[in-house]
Amino acid sequence: MMSNLSVPYVSARGAEIPTIGFGTSQLGACGEIVANALKVGYRHIDTAWKYGSEKGVGEGIRASGVPRKDIFLATKVSHEYLRAADFARSVDESLRNLQVDYVDLLHVHWPTIDNIPLVETMGALAKAKRDGLARHVGVANFNIALVKEAMRLCPEPLVTLQAEYHPYLDQSQVLAFCRQAGLIFTAYCPLGRGRLFKDPVISEIARSKGKSIAQVALRWQVQQGNIAPIPRSSNPVHMAESLDVFNFSLTDDEMRRIHALARPDGRIANPKGRAPPWD
Ligand SMILES: NC(=O)c1ccc[n+]([C@@H]2O[C@H](COP(=O)([O-])OP(=O)(O)OC[C@H]3O[C@@H](n4cnc5c(N)ncnc54)[C@H](OP(=O)(O)O)[C@@H]3O)[C@@H](O)[C@H]2O)c1
Repeated sequence: MMSNLSVPYVSARGAEIPTIGFGTSQLGACGEIVANALKVGYRHIDTAWKYGSEKGVGEGIRASGVPRKDIFLATKVSHEYLRAADFARSVDESLRNLQVDYVDLLHVHWPTIDNIPLVETMGALAKAKRDGLARHVGVANFNIALVKEAMRLCPEPLVTLQAEYHPYLDQSQVLAFCRQAGLIFTAYCPLGRGRLFKDPVISEIARSKGKSIAQVALRWQVQQGNIAPIPRSSNPVHMAESLDVFNFSLTDDEMRRIHALARPDGRIANPKGRAPPWD
């Protein structure tokens, strides 16, 4: 079944990104899942060398019959490969895994833990773009100071910061920075990796609107503007539901009540020794 859902775009510095993307971490051999996601209407797929899902994503794209040019495909270079030569090899391997000539967005997955000069990594990121291997470039899991430094050092414009965001995590400082700097905020773990599904406040709002908890959580993000959430699912019903968040809105009071759920221990992805000091 092909979907007729049409998803709006967020844009920054020449990049147009479908507002809701499809996450593929922890999915492993995910060819059929990705093909389903494309069939229900996703046109933005997020993968990473580190997830081990690139081959499956490539298979899913080919199996779906959706033309490559209609898909916004993002991948990431892992923190082990931030030296220029390693970086270039990792990009080549990602393209081979995906069996594509270019990706639409290439991220640095996490900042360095080995004191590799950021200028070297940013040079390698920009080179991938200049060589035609990536249409746009961005960073993930950088704090504000690191993003500012990356923007100063990167010879090509960064278009996104990918970072964790869901109702249990206050990202107001980072969001304000992205808006002011002209970067799209790509929101990972937008469903709190499942933690939101028992939340009484979101449940009550969802019930009152005849929507699901996932739809309310995703609507809360997209309604803020400049945010592109990338939920993951292996269930086609969930996939379709998560994309269907553009035909209703939350009131100011509902938005506020969801914002108020943020808590100090809300962060999920915080790998010791790799995560920077968060804002
Ligand atoms: N840059 C980074 O360092 C980083 C870190 C983490 C994640 N990410 C990216 O962000 C993506 C999303 O984050 P995530 O995978 O951690 O978690 P998530 O998307 O917040 O949550 C995924 C969970 O939600 C469930 N789910 C999805 N849609 C649903 C729906 N409509 N109704 C009910 N349940 C639903 C899924 O179960 P079902 O399969 O049963 O639907 C799954 O258990 C990742 O896949 C990855 O692409 C990036």
